[in-house]
Amino acid sequence: MAKKQQNANLTLAKANKKDEFYTQLTDIERELRHYRHHFKDKVVLCNCDDPFVSNFFKYFGLNFDKLGLKKLITTCYKSKRMDIFSQHDSEQAIYLEYTGDKNGNSIPDPEEIGIKHFKGDGDFRSQECIELLKEVDIVVTNPPFSLFREYVAQLVEYDKKFVIVGHQNAITYKEIFKLIKENKLWLGFGFTGGAGHFINTQYEDYATAGNHKEGMIRVSGVHWFTNLDINKRHEDILLYKTYSPEDYPTYDNYEAIEISKTKDIPINYRGIMGVPITFLDKYNPEQFEILGLAASAGYNEEIVGIPFLGKKDARPLIMGKNTYARIFIQHKKI
Ligand SMILES: C[S@@+](CC[C@H](N)C(=O)[O-])C[C@H]1O[C@@H](n2cnc3c(N)ncnc32)[C@H](O)[C@@H]1O
Repeated sequence: MAKKQQNANLTLAKANKKDEFYTQLTDIERELRHYRHHFKDKVVLCNCDDPFVSNFFKYFGLNFDKLGLKKLITTCYKSKRMDIFSQHDSEQAIYLEYTGDKNGNSIPDPEEIGIKHFKGDGDFRSQECIELLKEVDIVVTNPPFSLFREYVAQLVEYDKKFVIVGHQNAITYKEIFKLIKENKLWLGFGFTGGAGHFINTQYEDYATAGNHKEGMIRVSGVHWFTNLDINKRHEDILLYKTYSPEDYPTYDNYEAIEISKTKDIPINYRGIMGVPITFLDKYNPEQFEILGLAASAGYNEEIVGIPFLGKKDARPLIMGKNTYARIFIQHKKI
């Protein structure tokens, strides 16, 4: 394997286990400018955070009036300190509440921020954190990747709107994919080039020299996940190819055609099409219906969504050869 690919894989494998890196203000700003209108009169929660050093707190604190927020709550995990990233050295944690600027300098000053104490460690699953969650309208954060399934399940259970960072691998988790298929969760605008540089307090960075940034860890495949409506979700993918059996092979084990690049989706094919996971970045539910996902060897009818015509391996096969994971879709407008 080429060294570059080896490094990328290593970064990914390690990133999936690591929960302690912090989002840059520029990445938060770049994403959230598309959601501004959603925040008027809303209570925002940034949990799984390190309030005062967090850029989520900074973003919402500094833009509190511009967004017309009602209240900002940010919670810490295993920490009572406001001035450093959590060292996980406390079985108790704090949270902050901010209701806007009072002294006219447009900055959240320490005396304007209410510091409250949890009885416990600020785990997002604890009852006291759930009570806070119930109070809020929108949750915005970068939660621990290792608990992503649980984290999203909780947001859905309490019917919350959210904009959160996650890894694109999560798309293939059956719980997450089900939400995507049901149009209860979708991808936001994302990170430049599909990779993010995060503030790094403890890990080795495996990025190549050209991609390395001092004090940062580069994580490829990160994305924003949301259930807030955004413009891009209503934009059709512009297509220009037409179907011909020579250009679009059919899978051995599914009655669907293989499309290896989203831009090559034929404009006029009425049947089922297998497209790469990256299709979701451009998905408009008015243009296409998502039927299922074939990503692993075991066939799960609920996830794959279309009949399996093979024997064992449920990954899409073409002339006996595996393709990558594929999402099955169908045109809605033809
Ligand atoms: C990827 S970091 C992101 C931190 C911050 N939201 C940011 O992006 O700047 C995930 C955070 O979740 C915290 N965390 C880990 N397990 C947690 C749990 N069970 N409950 C709440 N927070 C947790 C970690 O300490 C860490 O601060």
